[in-house]
Amino acid sequence: MTTNIFSKSLLDTGTNEVINPDTYFQNNLPPSTLPEDENKVKEFVNKHDKAGRRIVLVTSGGTTVPLENNTVRFLDNFSAGTRGATSAEYFLEIGYAVIFMHRQFSLQPYSRHYTHSTNCFLDFIELRNDGKIEVNSQYIPKMKSILEKYKKAKQDGTLLLINFVTVADYLFLLRSVTQIMRNLKENAMYYLAAAVSDFFIPSQKMVQHKIQSAEGGLTLTMDQVPKFLKPMVTNWVPEGFIVSFKLETDPSLLVDKSRQALTRYGHQIVIGNLLTTRKLEVTFITKDSELKIQLSEEEVNNDVEIESKIIPELVKRHDEWVKNT
Ligand code: PMT
Repeated sequence: MTTNIFSKSLLDTGTNEVINPDTYFQNNLPPSTLPEDENKVKEFVNKHDKAGRRIVLVTSGGTTVPLENNTVRFLDNFSAGTRGATSAEYFLEIGYAVIFMHRQFSLQPYSRHYTHSTNCFLDFIELRNDGKIEVNSQYIPKMKSILEKYKKAKQDGTLLLINFVTVADYLFLLRSVTQIMRNLKENAMYYLAAAVSDFFIPSQKMVQHKIQSAEGGLTLTMDQVPKFLKPMVTNWVPEGFIVSFKLETDPSLLVDKSRQALTRYGHQIVIGNLLTTRKLEVTFITKDSELKIQLSEEEVNNDVEIESKIIPELVKRHDEWVKNT
């Protein structure tokens, strides 16, 4: 037997149309931490704008889709936030201030080198005979370099962390943060690396309590999440430099789908990547160009990260774009 968690008569809206973004915001609840996050972002943006520093919003990690209002179960996706956390470090190194909007508990800049790994962080340190603790000497050179960059970002106050869990949290935060950044105009970059759910269950269509298993299997019906790149490009930050990612698993679709996204939304760059090779190669698509960025075998063996090539290329293009606008 199968449980359909919705009663069709209650839930069928009689239309398969994708709801528009405004309706989405009217029908879903914002995260309770939104006002607090907005204040942090306003303060950060004012400070760095006054200092004449460019600001990039990096979105990172996956969004969840709850199945119950009192959520016990949810759908998730594969993203650990590697792309976003790694990119944030290279943006900081190049002099941008970074608003790092990430999935709670996903990888973060700097700490990413020591979390989520197969090593326990305790493996990096040694207990000496005199009772003191020190970093194992083989890890010191790399840790020293990461520590210096981390301390600099902290001292300069150039990294702001804010987090989301659900797709609704993400969308409310994205709208708020972009609207706060709007006055930065061309000095802001938006780097949308998060893996955002395309389907969700509106809260009024969701069951209140934990779905019971006694009745057997479960059938889900989901609505489509409106594409937020459209209002973002057209209304929220029409003068910003917007970079979105396109993820595919079928290589034959990647370039065409990336180009379609660029044409549909009218922003500056789509970076296409494939699930299986995303750490080794990406393709930059603009209105009139296509550029593949790859790591050579030697670079892979030397632990070069592809973001160390993506970010300087993007910053170069941001510079050119600022000059031409
Ligand atoms: O985190 P990692 O493990 O390192 O993986 C990195 C990554 C593969 C997640 C990243 O490189 C990437 O490709 N991120 C975008 C994934 C994605 O959501 O692709 P998409 O094709 O579903 O969406 C394309 C764009 O549309 C995205 O930039 C997104 O901001 C936007 N979008 C998506 C859904 C939605 N409802 N509205 C949107 O505007």
